[in-house]
Amino acid sequence: MIPAPQLPLSDVRIALGGPADFAGWRSAARRLLLDGVRPEDVAWEISEQAQETPSECRRQAGITVPRSFLERSETVICHADPARFGLLYRILWRLKREPFLLEIASDPDTRTFEAMDKAVRRDLHKMRAFVRFRRMVDEAGEHFVAWFEPDHFIVERNAPFFVRRFAGMRWAILTPHASARWDGTLLHLGPGADRADAPDADDAEALWKTYFRSVFNPARLKVKAMQAEMPKKYWRNLPEAALIPSMISTASEAESRMIARMPTTAPATHRKIQARHWPPDKIPDAGGGEDAATLAELGAAAAACRRCPLWENATQTVFGEGPQTAKWVFVGEQPGDQEDLAGRPFVGPAGKVFDAILEEAGIDRTSVYVTNAVKHFKFEPRGKRRIHSKPNAGEVRACRWWLDKELGLIRPDLVVALGATAVQSLLGKALPVTKLRGGTIEREDGLKVFVTIHPSFILRIVDPQDKAAERARFLADMRKVRALAA
Ligand code: URA
Repeated sequence: MIPAPQLPLSDVRIALGGPADFAGWRSAARRLLLDGVRPEDVAWEISEQAQETPSECRRQAGITVPRSFLERSETVICHADPARFGLLYRILWRLKREPFLLEIASDPDTRTFEAMDKAVRRDLHKMRAFVRFRRMVDEAGEHFVAWFEPDHFIVERNAPFFVRRFAGMRWAILTPHASARWDGTLLHLGPGADRADAPDADDAEALWKTYFRSVFNPARLKVKAMQAEMPKKYWRNLPEAALIPSMISTASEAESRMIARMPTTAPATHRKIQARHWPPDKIPDAGGGEDAATLAELGAAAAACRRCPLWENATQTVFGEGPQTAKWVFVGEQPGDQEDLAGRPFVGPAGKVFDAILEEAGIDRTSVYVTNAVKHFKFEPRGKRRIHSKPNAGEVRACRWWLDKELGLIRPDLVVALGATAVQSLLGKALPVTKLRGGTIEREDGLKVFVTIHPSFILRIVDPQDKAAERARFLADMRKVRALAA
């Protein structure tokens, strides 16, 4: 709970525009310093009417303050302790004569300054991690509301972070002392609210719980560390927190189940599988496939590809899949562990994410062609596991021969490059996906290439809100693809 301010009686009273009014404090502090007003003679208070006059601003010239002090003061001023304004002014006053004051860790003012800085930064971090939006619908459509109880006055300072992260949705964060609302264009800061103003649960609740259950790794459970990171005071606003006690109590059982479900191991007999497809006396030259008139013929030739050494350790070639009449071609990086065993692209975890988002975007996977820049699984054996390893430029170049053939037979309206390796293959050089994302590039041969991320990127994001935001961006990209080729 943030305490009510108790101010000492002093000669000079300074009114600030709000509990974290750094600009007001800074302007007043500089004036006071120029006028030689001693820290003990100043009382700081908060008043809605507080204003800065232009003549006062002009008088600020001529004071130099260490930049690091100002930067950290902007954080410290958000602290709930009413003494923070006076502390900051006292440090500023002392810095004139003791320029290394903030390096003296034993000094009581330095110690308090450090502790306040740390406490506010922790609170900022916790807010970023533990704000949970709940979906609501009003006359303008969908919007999201979250309730959060910070220890300090951090709403205004943290609001730009939420604007950046959730720019595409309308949202409000309500707290007891302030609120922030983003209408999709403008940020509005307002007064505090009541817990009852925010909804309790929504449809996303079940999704959060499923997600939390799926990322919970019982083998890594450290109860103390978890409780330090996610203190109990935040639990009541976190849908997933209801699961924690039961997950802790069943962790060892879950760990045994997880070990039993260890990732697949490459079949020791994989060379035999290859031999079954292509008995040694029938293996064609690396260049097989030149005359292929259909995707089926091309795929059959690719099964014996020796254009780069990756074939040697992979189980089989994973060729593209989909109709030759497809309007859209999606190009991934390379098959993963499960694709290597199944012999089909995008059937593993990344494929599941991809399928779900395609469906949400209204794209029927069976009507599009899905393939990879590299057609063999490249991996590093680690114990019993095969860990994905990124194909190098030579491997991408070698396999481009197949991709060009696939595109030549299909002649799609649009090719979607999923991630950096696909971009490298389709556009002939390594280009930054983050810069090109969401845009279409026309190649010299007229082929239009839409650039986006690889769906496995979404899988790798740990923070649930980042994950949800990235998923929403990818869905928006897929909707754009649909509109482009419609
Ligand atoms: N990642 C890819 O790029 N392709 C697949 O087929 C599977 C995962």
